[in-house]
Formats: sequence, structure tokens, C-alpha cells
Amino acid sequence: MTQSNHFDSIADVFNRIWYFSDAYKEFVTTHILEDLSLGSEDILADIGGGTGSFTSRLGYEASLLKAYCIEPSSAMCEEASKLENITPVCSDAHTFVTSNTPFTKMLFKEVIHHLPERGAFWKLLHPILPQGGKMLIITRPKNIAFPFFASAKEVFARHQPSQELIETELKEGGFEIITHLRSHTFTLAKEDWYTMLRHRFMSDLGVFSDEEIEAGIEEIESIYTEETIDIIDNLIFITATKK
Ligand SMILES: C[S@@+](CC[C@H](N)C(=O)[O-])C[C@H]1O[C@@H](n2cnc3c(N)ncnc32)[C@H](O)[C@@H]1O
Repeated sequence: MTQSNHFDSIADVFNRIWYFSDAYKEFVTTHILEDLSLGSEDILADIGGGTGSFTSRLGYEASLLKAYCIEPSSAMCEEASKLENITPVCSDAHTFVTSNTPFTKMLFKEVIHHLPERGAFWKLLHPILPQGGKMLIITRPKNIAFPFFASAKEVFARHQPSQELIETELKEGGFEIITHLRSHTFTLAKEDWYTMLRHRFMSDLGVFSDEEIEAGIEEIESIYTEETIDIIDNLIFITATKK
């Protein structure tokens, strides 16, 4: 079962408007491979895998037995189905977990804030994961460092669960957790950053009208006077293991 969401409207441009430099992809992929101890025996379930670009890269780099890209937006899932080494599953996290599909590792990259009733979800998942199975949650702090306009920062903070809350829910679900805070900075021409904002590259930007986005860009323009802008991406990596 697929659902329509914000990502249907940006699926065709998603890989282009999210600035994934080679250095960024390398940074994220290296940590995912290490944190999940991914290897050729593993079946990976990439929850909210989007267009599948990271699922596919992980599939190749770890020679995974199988890599599922679980994605409820039909337009995003269609993009993922163009990649040869992954299996797209056009459903939400809950439907996948209750489908009796075996897997050993699970990835939630920039998706945790979309999951409803997380506490119940972890409790459902714990008996299904094999002993030693791992999940990795990659998310951002409530106070995002991105050069957003003030109201975008507020909307982001409102929708984003705190690190402490996610950790507590996972522990209550029976998992042992390890958290790493990691940061990656990249520099963009300001026009490229504004293009990302105009495309509402993050779902939290979807609530703003064209006029509000343009006013927000003017606000950023008044603060950042150089031609380029530093994008500081502070990321939280939480590994949860079933002992
Ligand atoms: C910001 S994108 C991240 C895509 C990908 N993980 C990446 O990092 O490139 C978030 C994705 O989560 C998906 N999503 C939203 N609700 C979901 C749910 N309940 N279960 C699984 N995925 C969901 C969205 O459709 C979207 O593609």
C-alpha cells in the first residue's frame, strides 16, 4: 500500500535538489557500514529509503545478500525501482515489519520524525529482529544548524523528536544503544541553497507558501553577505542492538 506525501511532489528532482556531494555520500556511507557492521550475510531494510540511492550504494559496498528500499511515496518508490541491485517495497515501515519479510539490519536515515507511534513500533520490531540484529537511526537535533529562516527553524524543531526521547523509546523497546554525534560541513553558492529551499527539499518547508519562502530567502540574504554559504549538517547516529 502506498501513501501520498510531500515527497511525491519532489521525487523526480530529489537526488538533484538534495546536495549530495561525493564527500557527503562517502561520509554517511562509511559510518552506516561501520555502525551497522554491514556484510555479505546481511539483509538490509532501508526504511523510508526514498529514491534508493543510499540503499543501492550500501548494497554494492557491503555486497549485501539483499537490500530492500521501503518507501511509501509511490513516486519515490518508482525512482527506486530503476536501480538494479535493490528491491523496492512500496509501503510504510509498519506494513513492512508486519509482512514477515526476514531482515537482519534496519536503517532509518532522515525518516524517524515521519514514523507514527515509535514506542509501539520498537516493541513490535524487537521480537522480529534476530539476536545481534541492529538498527541505525540517523537524524538531526531539534536546533538545526542549517541556514534556514527563523520560522523554518521553528517548524523543524516542532516536528523533530529530541535525541533523548528517541533514546528512551529505544531502551524501553528492549534495545541497547550507542550514540555518536557527527558533523559534516559543505559550502554552496547561495543561489543553489535558495533553489533547494524553493523546491522545499525538506518536508518541513512544505507548509510555506511561495511568498513566505521568498521572504525567508530575503531574511537569510540579510544575514549572509558572501556569495557562498556554509551548510553545517549536525547528524545524530543512534545504533540500537538486540542483544
Ligand atoms: C527525507 S526522506 C529520506 C530518504 C532517504 N532515507 C535518504 O536519506 O535519501 C524521508 C522519506 O521517508 C518516507 N516516509 C515517510 N513516512 C514513512 C513511513 N511511515 N514509513 C516509511 N517511510 C516513510 C518519505 O516518503 C521519504 O521518502
